[in-house]
Amino acid sequence: MKILLSGGAGYIGSQVSNLLIDAGHKVTIIDSLVTGNKKLVPKKAKFFRCDISNIKKIKKIIKNDNFDAVMHFAGLIKVEESFQKPKRYNLFNFKKSKIFIENCVNNNLKTIIFSSTASVYKETSKKSYNENSIKKPSNPYAKSKLKFEKFLNKFIKKKKIKCIILRYFNVAGADLKMRTGLVDKKSSHLIKVACEVATGKRKKLIINGSNYKTKDGTAIRDFIHIMDLAKIHILSLKYLIKTQKSETFNCGYGKGYSVNDVVKALNKILKRKIPVVYGPRRKGDVASLIAKVSKIKKKINWKPKYNDLDLILKSSLNWENKIYKNSK
Ligand SMILES: NC(=O)c1ccc[n+]([C@@H]2O[C@H](COP(=O)([O-])OP(=O)(O)OC[C@H]3O[C@@H](n4cnc5c(N)ncnc54)[C@H](O)[C@@H]3O)[C@@H](O)[C@H]2O)c1
Repeated sequence: MKILLSGGAGYIGSQVSNLLIDAGHKVTIIDSLVTGNKKLVPKKAKFFRCDISNIKKIKKIIKNDNFDAVMHFAGLIKVEESFQKPKRYNLFNFKKSKIFIENCVNNNLKTIIFSSTASVYKETSKKSYNENSIKKPSNPYAKSKLKFEKFLNKFIKKKKIKCIILRYFNVAGADLKMRTGLVDKKSSHLIKVACEVATGKRKKLIINGSNYKTKDGTAIRDFIHIMDLAKIHILSLKYLIKTQKSETFNCGYGKGYSVNDVVKALNKILKRKIPVVYGPRRKGDVASLIAKVSKIKKKINWKPKYNDLDLILKSSLNWENKIYKNSK
């Protein structure tokens, strides 16, 4: 198949691009490099440095190729930054995304996979969420993603087309072939930051919040290995093309680890303790975010392969070491 992919110079888009290419598909990437890195773009992918709201250029790209589907990853992703710049998050994650998808559909590219987030759910005492759980974003980032989800659902009904919305939980780890991983030096992803501390790039890990109502007071998250997440995109695409049914799927493992669990597991791998300090809670964070994943497992027959915290941590550490050596 021929896939048009926005945000392919980013963490997740580049991994999915690699997997698609590994499986024999053709990938064309659109990315403005606003936060992405050209080095992550697979050599076998076609690459256009372009903003997703550039209607003219993207129309030309679509017209020149006969794409089977579009996967839309491009967006801004930092929760803390979204409090400082809510308008920018609305612009990138809603307005520009709307222009992009309308442009695709108007040019006959009508099979859509969209990257959404688990942070659209309303925090409840239940701690784990299925796709129908109540939505109430606790930060402008998640608000902009939910706003786009709502637009997309209305738009596809109107246009009588189908799409799959994937709500990612906490994506972590790196490509096991070390082709791609997180490169953002200002990342707020726990495992990335912990591995930066482990490799000496940061002095200490600040644990944001130790008074949550969880087993050890630190926040609990459902970490999904990026390679399992990437596979979900391929299975979702096959499902969508075969069934012509629109779906929303949670993407996680259905198991939560606390921040302290992650630190302990990392210390065990390293056989030493990384320096840690406890700081205040981060605005917009919730106590616990765990996926209910029976729907995705049943519908697309997804079988997680890398459901192992140690494996996630080791791949992140290897990646961190690799980019550290390359930067020297
Ligand atoms: N990383 C996670 O844990 C996580 C969790 C939930 C959802 N998501 C979603 O997954 C998607 C990808 O996230 P990621 O972690 O790979 O982020 P990332 O920042 O690594 O990648 C995003 C990419 O999109 C590009 N981009 C952004 N705005 C653009 C625009 N207007 N035009 C063209 N390119 C643009 C950036 O340059 C970057 O390469 C996002 O939509 C995000 O909301 C990520």
